[in-house]
Amino acid sequence: MVGPAYKDVAAKYAGQKGIEDKLAQKVIKGSKGAWGDIPMPPNANVNEAEAQTLVKWILSQK
Ligand code: HEM
Repeated sequence: MVGPAYKDVAAKYAGQKGIEDKLAQKVIKGSKGAWGDIPMPPNANVNEAEAQTLVKWILSQK
């Protein structure tokens, strides 16, 4: 496994306004430094609507 557990992501950002848009952009463009030294590569084959759906699901994990 690479990257944070979805439930840890959900716990970290619980209740933050506008977080879905921010995380959806990170899913598409990649992310570094939020969790550790390993970056997430861009997922360029994921479009905006798909990223929103994925992020909503991730944020619903407990
Ligand atoms: C469409 C597929 C993916 C989704 C929906 C997804 C989702 C996420 C989310 C929501 C975060 C948290 C970002 C943050 O806290 O700012 C994250 C972080 C991360 N993901 Fe992914 N991810 C995907 C694919 C991947 C792939 C393919 C890899 C590795 C090959 C990966 C590795 C990582 C790593 C290493 C982090 C931590 C980055 C950091 O510290 O900033 N992810 N991912």
